[in-house]
Amino acid sequence: EKDGFDWFMRKEIFEQPDAVAASLLSRHTATGALQLDEVRISEDDLREVDKIIVIACGTSFYAGLVAKYAIEHWTRIPCEVELASEFRYRDPILTRDTLVVAISQSGETADTLMAIRYARAQRAKVLAICNSNGSTIPRESDAVIYTHAGPEIGVASTKGYLTQLIACYLLGLYLAQVRGTRFGDEIAMIVRELETMPQHIQTVLDNAEEVYALAREYVDATSVLFLGRHAGYPVALEGALKLKELAYIHAEGFAAGELKHGPIALIEDGLPVFCVVPPRGRDQLHDKMISGIQEIKARGATAICLAEDDDDEITPYADRLIRLPKVSTLLQPLLSVVPLQLFACELATLRGHDVDQPRNLAKSVTVE
Ligand code: F6R
Repeated sequence: EKDGFDWFMRKEIFEQPDAVAASLLSRHTATGALQLDEVRISEDDLREVDKIIVIACGTSFYAGLVAKYAIEHWTRIPCEVELASEFRYRDPILTRDTLVVAISQSGETADTLMAIRYARAQRAKVLAICNSNGSTIPRESDAVIYTHAGPEIGVASTKGYLTQLIACYLLGLYLAQVRGTRFGDEIAMIVRELETMPQHIQTVLDNAEEVYALAREYVDATSVLFLGRHAGYPVALEGALKLKELAYIHAEGFAAGELKHGPIALIEDGLPVFCVVPPRGRDQLHDKMISGIQEIKARGATAICLAEDDDDEITPYADRLIRLPKVSTLLQPLLSVVPLQLFACELATLRGHDVDQPRNLAKSVTVE
C-alpha cells in the first residue's frame, strides 16, 4: 500500500534511491566488465551498428533525449531520438545495422509497439528498455533491459523515469565496452559514479521540505517555465510535463540557449522560472546559463535555480536556490529532476487534485 504516504506517486518518488540501486544491481562480472544478460544481440552485431534511433512517448521520450547525450559521447555512434507516434509516418531510414531502442515503462504503449513492429519489418534490431516483465514490447523485441523499479502505480512516471535513465547509461557504457570506444578503466569509473547515485538522490529527497515551501509560494501560479542546457534540457521538458499533467498549469520547458530566439517574449514580472544549472566544467555551459538567468531577471522573472553544492557563482543570480550534490554533467539529470517531481506533486496536492489519477490520463495508453 502507500506506506503512510498520501499518494502512490509521492511514495514512488521516495523509493527512487532503492529503485536506482536495484536497476544497477549485478550488471558487472567479477572482472568489472559490464554485462547486460538480457541483450540477445551478438557482440559482433553490436559492433556493426552504425545508427541508434531511440523511440518512446512522454516521459520515456525525455529519458531518450538524455540518453542521446550519453550514448553519442561514450560510443560515437550517431543517435536520434524520436516520438514513437511520429516515427513510422516519416519513412525513416532503417537497415540491419540500425539499433532501435524502444523505451516504455509499461511495455504496452500502442504508439511505441507499432513503431517497433515497423522497425523489425524493416529488419532493424530492436532493444526494449522496460519496467514490466513479460509485457508486449519486450516480447516483440530482439533484446530487453529491464529497469527493476518495481510496480509504478501513480499515473505520472517518476521511479520509472530514473531507472530508464540508468538503463540508458548502462546501454551506452556496454556499447562503448563492446566497441572499444572507451577504455575499461574509464567505463569502470563511470559505473562507480553511477553506484553513488542512490545516496545522492537520497540527499536531494532529504531537502524535500524546501521544495514544498516553494510549492506553497507558487500555489496560485498560472504559468511556470523551465530552462536547461545539455543533459539538463530534457530535465526542463520533464519538469514542465509533470506540472502540466498533475497541477493542470501551463508549463513549458526550453533549451536555455533558445530563449532569445522567441520564448523570452513570454517573460513577465513575477513569472517563476526553474533553471537547471549545468555543473561547472571545461565547457562554457555554466556561464551561458548565468547570462540566460540575467536576461530573464532583467525582465522581472523569479529565477529558481537548481545548482550543485559548491557553486558559489550562481548565488548572486538565484532568487531561490535548490542545492544538488556534485556529480558529472551527464549524470546530473538523475538528481535535478527530483525536486521538479516533488514540486509538481506538492503543488497538485495543495490545489486539491488527485495526484495518482490526473484527469484525462491513463497509466498505459493502448490506443494509437
Ligand atoms: C508522464 C507519463 C507518460 C508516459 C508515456 C509513455 O508522467 O507517465 O508520459 O511516460 O505515456 O508510457 P510508457 O513508458 O509506459 O510507454
